[in-house]
Amino acid sequence: MTPKAEDVIVLSPDEFPRYWYNILPDLPESLPPPQNPPTGGDRIAELQQIMIPECLRMEFSDNRWIPIPDELREVYIRIGRPRPLMRCRRLERYLKTPAKLYVKREDMGSPTGSHKINTALAQAFFAAKAGFEGLVTETGAGQWGSALAYATALFDLRCVIFWVRFAYNWKPGRRIFMQLYRGEVHASPSPITEVGRKLLEKDPNHPGSLSIAISEGLEYARVHDEFRYALGSVLNHVLLHQTIIGLETLLQCEKAGIQPDIMISSLGGGSNFGGFVLPAIGEVLKGKRQCEFLAAQSLAAPNLVKGEYRYDYADAAGTTPLLKMYTLGHDTEMPVIRAEGLRYHAAAPIISYLRYKGIVRAVAYAIDEKEVFEAARILAQTEGITPAPESAYSAKAAIDEALRCRESGEEKVILFSISGHGFLDLDAYAEKLFKEELRR
Ligand SMILES: Cc1ncc(COP(=O)(O)O)c(C=O)c1O
Repeated sequence: MTPKAEDVIVLSPDEFPRYWYNILPDLPESLPPPQNPPTGGDRIAELQQIMIPECLRMEFSDNRWIPIPDELREVYIRIGRPRPLMRCRRLERYLKTPAKLYVKREDMGSPTGSHKINTALAQAFFAAKAGFEGLVTETGAGQWGSALAYATALFDLRCVIFWVRFAYNWKPGRRIFMQLYRGEVHASPSPITEVGRKLLEKDPNHPGSLSIAISEGLEYARVHDEFRYALGSVLNHVLLHQTIIGLETLLQCEKAGIQPDIMISSLGGGSNFGGFVLPAIGEVLKGKRQCEFLAAQSLAAPNLVKGEYRYDYADAAGTTPLLKMYTLGHDTEMPVIRAEGLRYHAAAPIISYLRYKGIVRAVAYAIDEKEVFEAARILAQTEGITPAPESAYSAKAAIDEALRCRESGEEKVILFSISGHGFLDLDAYAEKLFKEELRR
């Protein structure tokens, strides 16, 4: 059971996808479209003024395959794509499971630490081509802000980032990373927007949330014509850009001669989960494959597990069009967790629809995150992978599934994705795993 060379399934740069996969035309029915709020205002038309035109076209495209421009493909290859798929024999042995565990490594080689770079590069590329001066965004964990700062620097754009305040305070290393790549970082709620000022009046130490940071970013984009808004999750075009993860994975499965029985990843808004599973779901929908899909969430924001499937806003202030999603309510307060990237009130419309149809399942783990960080420790000590706090949820769900196989004796092929590394999250590890030792 020692690791073997053939357990590392790599692809050559030539094999990196030439197209993104758009699942919209393969869904059994049209995805419920965005709607304007009943209170008035044409929010859908307003998107033309705040979003990157090419991304907006992709958002509603009917084309199954959307070409990745050659220039952008080269950048993806420069940042280390395709990324490996690896068999986890040491973890299998540790768990005494007959299941076969494979991990897709978005953490490995990512210059910013996670899968977020996959859409950041695409959005910065199209914004630069269209001649905009900069991009503005929100960030929760800081992974998306880091990715967008990096991508905008590469394409000579400016970058303004509203970062959920308590995560901003936790992660000075990520802040410096964003600044190194010329990102202008504001703790959110911030005094530079109307939305932020109102919240700070009520509570000068407001911890913030992803949906508040989105409201601030949108407000900034509305008053700065030369800027466009870039979103790091939820929207169709973001999931589309992330499908390079799943397309690589399917090719790697084919090379290794394996058929996944279940694919697992963490889910906040749904971008890494969607990117990982949508190409396989497309094949399931065409009857070409059988596979289960499991999203791992936190009970702090169990949008797929406990949310309602209905129209809701994507931001806290309610300034976006309404999207049909599993939602906890856009103004719901959610407890602070270390996996800040999972603390979002709703799941992407595409993933929500697939959950509604029973194609995607979800599980949510306790708010104290002890079991999740324990899974991260096991993954680190068996496979030498240090997951980001968000990615540790994926590891936890994969370990649980492998343990179920130990009970049932099933030799399932379990594929899970590690969306990012935790090198800049070691204080979270300290708090969750070593607090007692540190006190001594
Ligand atoms: C490493 C990592 N994984 C997962 C997530 C969750 O987001 P999403 O559901 O869009 O993949 C985040 C969000 O910040 C993240 O940074």
